Amino acid sequence: MNKILPSEITPEHVYLSRRRFLASAGILAASALVGAACRRSDPLAGLPSSDYCESAKASKSTDELGDRLTECTSVISYNNFYEFSFDKDDVAQRARDFKTSPWAIEVGGLVNRPGTYDIDGLRRKFAEEERIYRMRCVEAWSMVIPWLGFPLAKLMQEVEPTSRAKYVRFETLFDPQQMPGQKDEMLSWPYVEGLRLDEAMHDFTLLATGIYGKPLLPQNGAPIRLVVPWKYGFKNIKSIAKIDLVEEMPVSFWMTASPREYGFYANVNPNVAHPRWSQSSERRIGEAGRRDTVLFNGYADQAARLYEGLDLSKFY
Ligand code: MTE
Repeated sequence: MNKILPSEITPEHVYLSRRRFLASAGILAASALVGAACRRSDPLAGLPSSDYCESAKASKSTDELGDRLTECTSVISYNNFYEFSFDKDDVAQRARDFKTSPWAIEVGGLVNRPGTYDIDGLRRKFAEEERIYRMRCVEAWSMVIPWLGFPLAKLMQEVEPTSRAKYVRFETLFDPQQMPGQKDEMLSWPYVEGLRLDEAMHDFTLLATGIYGKPLLPQNGAPIRLVVPWKYGFKNIKSIAKIDLVEEMPVSFWMTASPREYGFYANVNPNVAHPRWSQSSERRIGEAGRRDTVLFNGYADQAARLYEGLDLSKFY
């Protein structure tokens, strides 16, 4: 796997707040030393899941554009999950004991039929399908991933949003004992994301429960996470515990952390630079060099109609 590039380091404000947090806890200097001494060459070493990819399955070896699937081992070892670590190579180890079963999702707010769903029940109720999607991180790296899951629309139809419901708000589990990053008071936990109701009802919008034919591992957002392939990866909220239908646009984790840098829509757009770096190209994990980033991450035919009338030259 390629090395992390300076251009895809942790967003500056997060990095700085993390340093303040660590410095106040008095562990910055010590952890720098330990980190340097113990940097792992294999992020999966010693994990019970280290053979996970041996039985990885996908129906195809490429996406619909002919792009090769990203290697399973990269998908499970190069992760963003700030509840566990700010270091992509370290998430798998830090999340190894995260308890993802039993797990319930509460679905409520402006709906006629609120409910609490257990994951196994959901998986039985809505037939799982494979969806091969590109995922483009706002940090300008990307992967092609064969997900397993079901359209979020199916769950929405089940709970029946009322006519007042305009948006869907998602929350990750809040459990600082298991997710030590949530003790960092510089950030506003739990992780929150949101979609407009019509985005949520789009057939491509997935609640994913697996990759490569297998249940998700903790580092990938087990047991259930969102996947919206035309948006930057940070919209794909992991380990969802709560979904509410609401009237007002939800304020996401990143909008709170850095409103100047992250907006609600976050549609992939090569023509609108991040305030600190260009979004015109990306590094596909497992490939040398860079490739051009495509508007709506290549899903314009499916998704652009949702944004007619919106000014895409603004950072949404
Ligand atoms: N969800 C939660 N709860 N916490 C996170 O830190 N990171 C996001 C997103 N979902 C994140 C999250 C970001 S920035 C990206 S790019 C993707 O998850 C990464 O998903 P992956 O690690 O499965 O590739």
